[in-house]
Amino acid sequence: MAFEYRKGALCAEQVPLEEIARRFGTPCYVYSRAAIERHYGEFALALAGRSALVAYSVKANSNLAVLALLAKLGAGFDIVSGGELARVLAAGGEPRKILFSGVGKTEDEIAYALESGILCLNLESEGELQRVAQVAGRCGKRAPIAFRINPDVDAKTHPYISTGLKQSKFGVPHADAERIYREASRLPQVEVVGIGCHIGSLMTGAGPFIDATARILALTTRLERAGIGLAHIDLGGGFGIRYRDEAPAPIGEFVDGALGVLAGRKEKLIVDPGRSIVGSAGALITRVEYVKPGEAKSFLVVDAAMNDLLRPALYGAWHEVLPVLEEDEAAATGVYDIVGPVCESADFLAKDRALAARPGDLLAVMSAGAYAMAMSSNYNSRPRAAEVMVDGEQAHLVRRRERVAELYAGESVPAW
Ligand code: LLP
Repeated sequence: MAFEYRKGALCAEQVPLEEIARRFGTPCYVYSRAAIERHYGEFALALAGRSALVAYSVKANSNLAVLALLAKLGAGFDIVSGGELARVLAAGGEPRKILFSGVGKTEDEIAYALESGILCLNLESEGELQRVAQVAGRCGKRAPIAFRINPDVDAKTHPYISTGLKQSKFGVPHADAERIYREASRLPQVEVVGIGCHIGSLMTGAGPFIDATARILALTTRLERAGIGLAHIDLGGGFGIRYRDEAPAPIGEFVDGALGVLAGRKEKLIVDPGRSIVGSAGALITRVEYVKPGEAKSFLVVDAAMNDLLRPALYGAWHEVLPVLEEDEAAATGVYDIVGPVCESADFLAKDRALAARPGDLLAVMSAGAYAMAMSSNYNSRPRAAEVMVDGEQAHLVRRRERVAELYAGESVPAW
């Protein structure tokens, strides 16, 4: 377990979260190195013996220490911007293991990716194909490309994070894929190397993932017959974790299912998990500032807010909240909404939680390793939280708390 109580104190590996709060202040994100390694290891084990690449989806958590750790383990990276490419390279990621996804790549980003020598650009439209061909011609490079196919499979997840349906902005329609591949194969500036899909995030059952694999394989076979052989099949990410009482299928079940469909195929299998690697490896430590009783509702006003962790406000996401020090039995328990200081009614981290909390107490918002710090903002001129990586008995500061002056360092007042 990444986080567990030892003698009444919630710890990340061997380090009490209270000690981390004392050393680095709050709000503070804490990650467990061992948990990240273990989760990556599950993919590596399930894929052992097959030509495969686990391309960690950088958007889930792009801290350099997380990226460097995964690069050391041999991971590849799924990126969606020039910014993420710069981070991966700065963290020591190998360019030949980077895939660049996303619907809106700019010319500069495409040129940067080509100059860096990445494995593949995952294209999402014909317009993008034309643009990549142009940029590649200008750079004197042949662009390695794949298309992200929208397989029209329902991932059975939250509508905001379901991406494989026809209504979605992502991918090229399944029905157009063959034509677009033929078009690409005629362009000398591009080299068609793969095919991809990603049907959505937070899948709990392996069924939709296996269906999508079958659809992608059927297309791959058709392309092969048309003389377009592919080097890899990228099945995306989206493997769920437990936030509350979900029971996601183990990684092995997803991977084995896909391997079964792909039995006998020589293409390299790529997956790009994000959340399942870092999600439950992280927690957000926050301090109770005020206990605010009310007629209809009572509140714990804490020092973390929606700018630190947006998921509850944006998706109604449920994160477990634990006391950092186990409550003594005599303490008075109340039912509280846990809210931040930001001036928005949507600024809550959790609702209707039974806790015995007093001002000054520390709480931990759990499963906050993915899409948490990565989606943080400076709304209300709030400096972003510190980030700490725990490794056994050591706690390393991997991003210091932002300073207020940094927030407006790029601004200027005209000489009017
Ligand atoms: N590959 C592609 C092409 C993706 O678009 C995504 C996520 C992933 C991989 C990684 O998915 P994961 O394994 O992490 O589920 N902010 C939302 C999640 C957005 C996911 C976007 N795409 C949340 O907080 O739940």
